Amino acid sequence: MELKTDFLIIGSGIAGLSLAIKASTLGSVTIVTKKEKSESNTNYAQGGIAAVTDKTDSFEEHINDTLICGAGLCHKDVVEFVVKEAPPRIQELVEWGVEFTKSETLPQSYDLGQEGGHHHRRILHAKDLTGREIERALHEKVAQLKNVQIYENHIAIDLILQKDATGSTVNCLGAYVLDIDEDTVHTYRAKYTILSTGGAGKVYLITTNPDIATGDGVAMAYRAGAKIANMEFIQFHPTCLFHPDAKAFLISEAVRGEGGILKLKSGATFMEKYHAMKSLAPRDIVAKAIDTEIKQSGDEFVLLDITHHNRDFLKNRFPNIYEKCLEFGIDIAVDPIPIAPAAHYICGGVAVDHWGKTSIDNLFACGEVSCTGLHGANRLASNSLLEALVYSHRAFNKIVKSFRQTELNAIPIPPWDPGGAVESDDSIVVTNNWDEIRRSMWNYVGIVRSDKRLERAERRINLIQKEIKEYYWNYRITKDLIELRNITTVAKLIVQSCRLRKESRGLHYTIDYPETRKEFEKDTIIFKE
Ligand code: FAD
Ligand code: SIN
Repeated sequence: MELKTDFLIIGSGIAGLSLAIKASTLGSVTIVTKKEKSESNTNYAQGGIAAVTDKTDSFEEHINDTLICGAGLCHKDVVEFVVKEAPPRIQELVEWGVEFTKSETLPQSYDLGQEGGHHHRRILHAKDLTGREIERALHEKVAQLKNVQIYENHIAIDLILQKDATGSTVNCLGAYVLDIDEDTVHTYRAKYTILSTGGAGKVYLITTNPDIATGDGVAMAYRAGAKIANMEFIQFHPTCLFHPDAKAFLISEAVRGEGGILKLKSGATFMEKYHAMKSLAPRDIVAKAIDTEIKQSGDEFVLLDITHHNRDFLKNRFPNIYEKCLEFGIDIAVDPIPIAPAAHYICGGVAVDHWGKTSIDNLFACGEVSCTGLHGANRLASNSLLEALVYSHRAFNKIVKSFRQTELNAIPIPPWDPGGAVESDDSIVVTNNWDEIRRSMWNYVGIVRSDKRLERAERRINLIQKEIKEYYWNYRITKDLIELRNITTVAKLIVQSCRLRKESRGLHYTIDYPETRKEFEKDTIIFKE
C-alpha cells in the first residue's frame, strides 16, 4: 500500500513531536514510531534542559561552557545561535504544557539544576523525570491536532530515493516502513522526510539508552548516500547504577550538581587528581577518571555519595532515582551509590546545515540522529534536548519558505521488494550477531581505544556484516533483523571514524595518539561512495 503525506516524521521523541506540532500548521503529518509512542531516549531524560533563564547567568557563559566541553570542534556560530534561541524554545514548551519544577524560595522562577562542565546553575528540570514530563505534554498537544497521525509499532526500513542519470541521489521521496503487528511493508510518499530517530546506545553492550536506540536514522541516511559526521565521539555517562539487575539505570549528573561526591570503595576521593572541577568536571574527564580508577583497583565500580543531604530533600529532588535505588536495596540517604560508566549519547550523526537539512534534498534530520556542530568532540550536559528543540524549529522555518510551491513528487515508486524471502528457521543467528557486535564495541571501541583494538573490532564487524547481508536478502524481514543490520552499520561507521582520527580529543581517547593535534581540528565526514 502507498500512503501519501506532506511530512513523514520518523520517531516520536522531542525532535519529532516538536516538529510535528509546527508542521501541522502547514499540511498533513504522519509520524511513524517503532514501539509505543512515548518510548524514546527523551522519555528517560533526567537532568533537564540547559538554557539561560537566570539574571545572574549569561549567554556568554553558556556558550563558553559548551565550547570548552567540545574540545575545539564545536561550530562557534551554531553554539551561539542554539544558546541564544534557547529561552523562546523553553517558553514554547511551557505554552505546550510542560511543567518544569519551580523554585521553592522564589515561586515565580524555575528551580535550576547544575551538571558537569556548567559553571552556573542553568538546567530546567521536572524533578528527575524531565523527559517523561516533556513526552507527556507533547503527546497531549499532538493528540489535539487533527492532521497529525501517529503509527506505533511501525519501523522505517529504508529511505526512498530519486536518482539522477549517473545514479547519484538527488531527492528523498519518503520511506519503506514495516508495520510490525501486521507484518507488512508499506510505502510512505512524502514532500519532506524528517529523521528524528534518536541515538545509538544499543551499539554498546552497556548503555543508558532504551532498546529503541539502534542508530536506524544514521544507518538509513548512510545507505542513502548522505554525509555522516563525527561518529567517533561516543559519550559515556560516568554514573550509572552498578547492579546486576539494573540495566545501566542512570544516576543523573544533577546528583553531583547537588554536591554528590565520587569516591573509591575505600571512601577516598579521587577526582581532584583529574580536574579542578572535581566531581563536576565535564563528562569525558569523569568517565575516563572512573575507568582508570576501576582498572587500577580491579573493582567493578566506584561510589557516588550524596548522603550529606537529608532524606526529604533527596525524595523530593530525585524521586525516580531514590525509588529505583531502593528497589535494588540501596538507600541513597544512607548508602553511597555504586556506579560505573555506560554508553550514553552519540555526538556524531547525519551531517546537517544550520536548518537541519541533510546533504539530500527534502531530507531533514533533527535531534540526536543529527550532527549539527553544537557538541563538537564532547556534549555539554543537558544540551541535547535543547539542540533537538532549536533544530526542529529551524527545520520548520526553512520548510515554511518553500512549502506552498512544493508538489508531492509524482514519479512512480516501486513497491517494497521482499526478494525470495522466506521465514527464517534460525533466529539464533540474529541474537548471536547482535550480542557479538555490542560486546566487541564495548571491549574494543570503548572509553580508551588503540589501533589494535579498533582493528580487532573492524575484523569482527566485517564478518558479521557479510553474514547479515546474506541473511537479509534470503529471509523475511523482521524488526530484529532491521535493527541488527543498523547497529552493525553504525558500529562500522564508529570504528572507521575512530581510525581516521589519529589524535586524542574530547570523547575520543587512543593510547596510540594520546596528544591533541592541530591538523585534526576538523569534523570527520564519511559517506557511501
Ligand atoms: P528520541 O527521543 O530517542 O526519539 C527517537 C524516536 O525514534 C523514538 O520514538 C524511536 O522509537 C523512534 N525510532 C527510532 N528508529 C526508528 C525507526 N527505524 N522507525 C520508526 N521509529 C524509529 N539530554 C539532555 O539534554 N538532558 C538530559 O537530562 C538527558 N538525560 C538523559 C537520560 C537518559 C537515560 C538518556 C538515555 C538520555 C538522556 N539525554 C539527556 C539525551 C536525550 O534524552 C536525547 O538525546 C534526546 O532525548 C533525543 O531526542 P530525539 O527526539 O532526537 O530522539
Ligand atoms: C543526566 O541527567 O545526567 C543526563 C543529562 C544529559 O545526558 O545531558
